[in-house]
Amino acid sequence: MCEEELKKLLKERLSEKRYIHTIAVADTAEKLAGRLFESPSFAAGREQDSFMEKVRLAALLHDYAKELSYDKLMEYVSLAQTEWEIDADELQIAEILHAPVSAYLARTELGIEDQEILEAVRFHAIGKIGMGIVAELIFAADFIEPNRNFSAARKVREEISKNGLESGIIMICDLTIKYHVDNRRLLHPNAVLLRNAYLRRQA
Ligand SMILES: [Fe+2]
Ligand SMILES: [Fe+2]
Repeated sequence: MCEEELKKLLKERLSEKRYIHTIAVADTAEKLAGRLFESPSFAAGREQDSFMEKVRLAALLHDYAKELSYDKLMEYVSLAQTEWEIDADELQIAEILHAPVSAYLARTELGIEDQEILEAVRFHAIGKIGMGIVAELIFAADFIEPNRNFSAARKVREEISKNGLESGIIMICDLTIKYHVDNRRLLHPNAVLLRNAYLRRQA
């Protein structure tokens, strides 16, 4: 599926605000990826154009199921469970369930089979230890795209430009944990697991 076709479909499916967010995530993820390609060790063996296409596609798909009604979403959750493990914690947090459902629909409705794209869509809301670079880019871009104008997003933007993507991901986890604790909201444990795994990597 080409980007233009997908954008047309997204325009029909998503509210204007969500559509603008989606395009901004694609542009942001592409910019972040562009910075990675400045490093020769990253660029070696990677074809930049096809990598960018993959990153953009993952970004465009990431919130595909975000605006389904609750009932429809839950219907798809049981189907998505046949492809992606959805744990008990995730099942209790309605606002993150669109992620596995978006991945499920990307494959079944749109025929996307690329595992890196599907992984990025599936884990964009909770992250996952060992996720690939495409998933890391979408995870970060979703948090920092320019329409996110809260102070946490500004902090992460700064952190990534100073200290790199991995450091930014640690900060996203920190801020996510803090937000959920401060507001007494259920927190998916991946935020803690991911933070610890990336901190250990940096040590
Ligand atoms: Fe999302
Ligand atoms: Fe999003």
